[in-house]
Amino acid sequence: MTDLVIQENKIIERILSMELVRVTERAAVSSARLRGRGDEKAADQAAVDAMRRELNRLPIHGTVVIGEGERDEAPMLFIGEKVGTKTGPAVDIAVDPLEGTTLCAKDMPGSIAVMAMAQAGSLLNAPDVYMDKIAIGPGYPHGVVDLDMTPEENIRALAKAKGVSAHEICVCILDRPRHAELIAACRRAGAAIRLITDGDVAGVIHVTEPLKTGVDLYLGTGGAPEGVLAAGALRCVGGQMQGRLILDTPAKVERAAKMGVKDPKKKYDMKELASGDVIVCATGVTDGALLSGVRFNKETIETETIIFRSITGTVRRIKAEHREFGKFLLD
Ligand code: FBP
Repeated sequence: MTDLVIQENKIIERILSMELVRVTERAAVSSARLRGRGDEKAADQAAVDAMRRELNRLPIHGTVVIGEGERDEAPMLFIGEKVGTKTGPAVDIAVDPLEGTTLCAKDMPGSIAVMAMAQAGSLLNAPDVYMDKIAIGPGYPHGVVDLDMTPEENIRALAKAKGVSAHEICVCILDRPRHAELIAACRRAGAAIRLITDGDVAGVIHVTEPLKTGVDLYLGTGGAPEGVLAAGALRCVGGQMQGRLILDTPAKVERAAKMGVKDPKKKYDMKELASGDVIVCATGVTDGALLSGVRFNKETIETETIIFRSITGTVRRIKAEHREFGKFLLD
């Protein structure tokens, strides 16, 4: 690529960051209409439809690298699908149109519509398997925590770096039976634990704003695609994250290899999960510590979105009031 093309792409990318807000806003509003109806599939489908429609309006040559699944299992936003008007820069697209489908179906806190856009070839093409994750926010020396240290060691090291006792560290963990030993180890170390029932993209992003969310450290296994989205957001604010794919069957190793994973035991750091310039954008569907959910008023619809941009490290929160939104949605 010539310098001029790179420069042009940067300008386009800057303009596009606002366009991504529209993409996640629409997905959030569509799924929020189905909040609390007990129908996860319908809420997810509404978000997928809206997100795909909006993505196809963007002036990009987009390739979905993290999406709803393989081509044969997901008719829309499948891995490899081309999106956009095919007139702009070549970019990788990672989507989770409704992250926390159960949270939305049960109208519980923390579901979001989230996506990332990055330079082509710069997001890890993560298969839909679990990933072991550790994440902290900005302001700590590099390597203060590590996936290969015990929970107790990580908590002690983080507390020391923060200048507090281990009792003042709060760890966010998905509430799953597989995490029983992890939870016990964190409690032995004296830390508080914020259990979440779902939604670990938001769970990891919580560490970027400990003063607002109260969370210092994220630990545990969750979806690998969700790990890549969260790493993109963390990259923008200078946090730290590591992830390791859990490839515990030959079939998973083979699937990962097809997606370019050479070493099945590799510990990825944040910049390997999401390298290059990346923009991550999330809109609240239900209320949560990170974002307010969609509000349906008599004449307006309100949304709250957070957008992270790695090239400048800017984090914007955008509260929007949409008028005649219903009509526009039918465009
Ligand atoms: P969905 O939105 O696909 O339901 O994912 C929710 C989620 O909680 C993710 O945030 C997390 O990474 C994953 O599920 C954890 O998987 P599991 O529910 O199998 O523990």
